[in-house]
Amino acid sequence: MNAKPSLLLTGATGFLGTRLAPGLASAWNVVRASRRAQGPDAVRLDLEDPDSVRAAFQEIRPAAVVHCGGAARPDECEVDPDMARRLNSEAARLVAELSAQAGARLVHLSTDLVFDGEKGWYNEDDPVRPLSVYGRTKLEAEEAVLSGAPGSVVLRVSSVYGRPLGARPCFVDEWLTALSAGRPISAYVDQWRASTDGDQLPEVIARVLADPDLEGVFHWGGAERLTRHQTALELCRAFGFDPALARATRAADERKPAPRPRDASLDSSRLAAALGLAPRALAQGFATLAAAARSTEKR
Ligand SMILES: NC(=O)c1ccc[n+]([C@@H]2O[C@H](COP(=O)([O-])OP(=O)(O)OC[C@H]3O[C@@H](n4cnc5c(N)ncnc54)[C@H](OP(=O)(O)O)[C@@H]3O)[C@@H](O)[C@H]2O)c1
Repeated sequence: MNAKPSLLLTGATGFLGTRLAPGLASAWNVVRASRRAQGPDAVRLDLEDPDSVRAAFQEIRPAAVVHCGGAARPDECEVDPDMARRLNSEAARLVAELSAQAGARLVHLSTDLVFDGEKGWYNEDDPVRPLSVYGRTKLEAEEAVLSGAPGSVVLRVSSVYGRPLGARPCFVDEWLTALSAGRPISAYVDQWRASTDGDQLPEVIARVLADPDLEGVFHWGGAERLTRHQTALELCRAFGFDPALARATRAADERKPAPRPRDASLDSSRLAAALGLAPRALAQGFATLAAAARSTEKR
């Protein structure tokens, strides 16, 4: 029997990483990497300490790398741009350089926030213009990956939701906590996204890794472009909460440290056609979440 090739997964303790590790394990010997990663299948590394990243590559000699680690909270990046640059741009540059040296195929996770949100339903050829420090450092990371690791894939995802697996909560978890307590939630009527179903991402990335001809930038959002408020109503429908609890508010009336694009919805049709896989509609993704929550309650 052939041993499975090694795959180094950075950001393994994060929202995406916790679902990618088990989801990629059938084809790959996944080594989970982060500062807090623990266990026999884990390696500790600090993306701000280049020696620890080099040591991890030397120990694992990966055939593939999925780079999910970094600073993923836009407001934190806005108030600490140096941290954002170190963790996003510089770390991605190093990961790309080491992946190229190891001959490892690199899949790098990026974001819809590289766009300014004036157009919406963005495809991969649309010009980028990030509004925030987070968006700019993620764009620098994309450029470093594409130039430093030929053959790599940059996968832009958006407002990812999925089953709670013990990592940080996503926006859906925060809404569900409030709704379950009978508290109203606020959601914007003037901000559009095509939210990515995180529980579909392992299949998407597994298929990308299985196709060496795919390279460059790709989008993977949801099937449709919806406002945050329409998204909240969809969640109420799926979980049986009173839709009146989803209060309509306007992003234009609020100030957050990091500016957000109005319409950052991603058109995923290019990758969908290449993989022969359709991005999930929100109703389907939320129905799956509701079913998983019901079966957890029964246990
Ligand atoms: N979630 C979304 O909605 C979304 C949307 C668009 C793009 N993305 C992109 O997807 C990727 C993953 O996002 P996520 O939501 O899973 O992020 P997350 O939940 O915040 O997780 C971040 C991960 O990075 C690791 N990390 C942070 N600082 C580190 C350091 N100094 N050294 C080593 N590891 C470090 C953390 O692990 P430790 O704390 O254990 O070190 C954690 O595993 C990011 O590139 C993000 O930009 C996410």
